[in-house]
Amino acid sequence: MSQQPSPNDLIAQGRALMIEKALVAGRWRDGEASPIAVEDPAEETVLGHVPSLGGAAVEQAIEAAARAFPDWAARKGKDRGAVLARWAALIEANENGLAALISLENGKPWPEALGEVRYANSFITWFAGMAERLDGRTIESAKDEDLILAFREPVGPVAAITPWNFPAAMITRKAAAAFCAGCTMVLKPASATPFTALALARLALEAGLPEGCFSVVTGANSEVGGRLTGSPLIRKLSFTGSTEVGRRLAEQCAPTLKRLSMELGGAAPLIVFEDADIDQAVEGTVAGKFRAAGQTCVCPNRIYVHEAVREDYLERLTARVSKLKVGKPFEEGVVIGPLIDAKGLDKVEDHIARTKAAGGRVLTGGARHELGGRFFQPTVLAGGDDRLFAAEETFGPVAPVFAFLSEEEALTRANASEFGLAAFLFTRDLDRAMRAGRALEAGIIGVNSGLVSNAANPFGGVKQSGYGREGSVYGLDDYLQVKSLTLALG
Ligand code: SIN
Repeated sequence: MSQQPSPNDLIAQGRALMIEKALVAGRWRDGEASPIAVEDPAEETVLGHVPSLGGAAVEQAIEAAARAFPDWAARKGKDRGAVLARWAALIEANENGLAALISLENGKPWPEALGEVRYANSFITWFAGMAERLDGRTIESAKDEDLILAFREPVGPVAAITPWNFPAAMITRKAAAAFCAGCTMVLKPASATPFTALALARLALEAGLPEGCFSVVTGANSEVGGRLTGSPLIRKLSFTGSTEVGRRLAEQCAPTLKRLSMELGGAAPLIVFEDADIDQAVEGTVAGKFRAAGQTCVCPNRIYVHEAVREDYLERLTARVSKLKVGKPFEEGVVIGPLIDAKGLDKVEDHIARTKAAGGRVLTGGARHELGGRFFQPTVLAGGDDRLFAAEETFGPVAPVFAFLSEEEALTRANASEFGLAAFLFTRDLDRAMRAGRALEAGIIGVNSGLVSNAANPFGGVKQSGYGREGSVYGLDDYLQVKSLTLALG
């Protein structure tokens, strides 16, 4: 196994990619108001600043996206694919530094951040290959003389609003699909993690993405978000974040009838049936639940285990989780970094306290970590009230486990949530896997796996987890609209 580069080396590479400016219409620029401080959540120090852009700058970015759109859309798919392929190559060449930048602003352990950079890049390479495959259809008409042609065309300039938990992957999943389709984009990254977005944009420019095709606007949600949702020039919004904010953005987009992709909250159930391979179930739980310190929308939020195997599963899970190393992102062997902010810690504590009050037990963890700051111990809970975890995402390193007695009970409890993003099940019975997988009310199902994220996999939810898909051919459809042309043949 190759050794991790030294922390000082990595931090220097990350800082070298840090740009304390916004990218508006192809120019790096400062803001008018006082800049936004970006924190390092592991050290609780200020890492740097980005501009707080005013409305005029955001309008410039939108107008540039509208100006750049016709040429970019008219290019051959092969040319757009080549730009994407060059972008991917530059990201690969800078992957250590980009991963360090993610660790600095998000707190993710560096090896995990490197995994995110590669995951992020997989969207770019996947969509680079799709750019020359945006075929339409010929359609038979009931009228003898008519032939109908259906073209797939880019929807236009789009806006994207992205979260802090995957500072790279949530951007490329949207941007690569948009650029592949021929759309241009104005991106508002999370104010907690804007530097990765800005570094990615710099590499996109170096790769030959034309001026104006990609702006990265930093600033207050009200100022920047409001301009993006209100502009008639922006034809679509893609948002990843909470259901509450998603609802508000959808309302703001209604007057201009924008297309919407809403990747919202989840409260994923994970079911371990009595015939499951328990080691596989434990590994799947750890991989899914503790990724990004539990700060993902797809991670299992409530775990249902058949009573017959519950003790065994809990014993193995507790042993495994109690060994997960918590620490600073550049320390070797660390797998759990800090939470993003104090609010995140409060929520985790609240869920543990409410579980204890409902009769649940803490099997490992359950408290802030001795490192202090934003670090929390990886935690396993047994019992309590699963309705709390069906209603609210914990967004932290807490695995609450509940018992069930029948398949029907497990599915009923799993589906008793307004959310429906991901769901996981562990069984050796293929019939049961198919039956339960089809019955679960979620957009993304993992069978015998706690990790389902993949550029080729359609990603998105049902119910209050939103609509639209990202990644895969379905994700591309979200950036395309169909135009029909009827030819009357003499
Ligand atoms: C998310 O949690 O929002 C995304 C996770 C993923 O892409 O795997």
